[in-house]
Amino acid sequence: MGKLEVVLTESEIQKKIDELADRINRDYAGKELLVVGILRGAFIFMADLVRKLEVPVVVDFVAVSSYGDATESSGIVRIIKDMDESVAGRHVLLVEDIIDTGLTLKYLYDYLKARGPASLRVCTLLDKPDRRQVDFQSDYNGFTIPDYFVVGFGLDYKQLYRNLPAVYALPPGGEEETCLQGQGRRNL
Ligand code: IMP
Repeated sequence: MGKLEVVLTESEIQKKIDELADRINRDYAGKELLVVGILRGAFIFMADLVRKLEVPVVVDFVAVSSYGDATESSGIVRIIKDMDESVAGRHVLLVEDIIDTGLTLKYLYDYLKARGPASLRVCTLLDKPDRRQVDFQSDYNGFTIPDYFVVGFGLDYKQLYRNLPAVYALPPGGEEETCLQGQGRRNL
C-alpha cells in the first residue's frame, strides 16, 4: 500500500503564512485589499492568510476547472463561478494553492487585469517551477517544491485529502491505495 509522506508540516506552513502576511501587511499599509481565492484548492490557505492580515480586507472567490479528476492538466481553464465583487479601481490579491503549469493563474491574471484593478498581485502557497508551460511568477510564494503531486492543506487528488492539516506527497502509482504515514519526510 502506498503511503502519504509529509512534505511540509503544519508548523512550517503556519510560519510561512506569517511571513507572507507580514510582507502583504507592509506592502498594502493604508489600502483596502480585495482578496480573491481560487476554489477549491485555496480555501484553507486563504482562510489562514486573511486572518493574519491587518489591512481592511474584502474576500471573494472564483472557481475554475482545469484538471478534472486526474493529476495531469488538460491545459484548458474554464471559469465555473465568477467573482461577485467588482475589480475596477481596487487593489486585488489573487490567492492560489499551487502554480504548476501556470495556465490557471496566467488565465485568471489576464482576465482580472482586463477589468481595470488599481493593482493586481498573486499569492501562492506552493510553486512547482519544473512543470511550467507559460511564463508566470507569483508575487508572494510560500514554498518552491519539486515535481511531486501533493495533497492536503486544501490540495486534492480526486477531491480527497483537502482536509489534511499538512502537505503530503502522493506516491506515484499508489494513488488508489494510500494511507497516512506518521513519520517520513521528503527532502526539498
Ligand atoms: P496549473 O494551471 O497547471 O498551474 O495548475 C493549477 C491547479 O492545478 C491548482 O490550482 C491545483 O488545483 C492543481 N494542481 C497542480 N499541482 C497539483 C498538486 O500537486 N496537487 C494537487 N493539485 C495540483
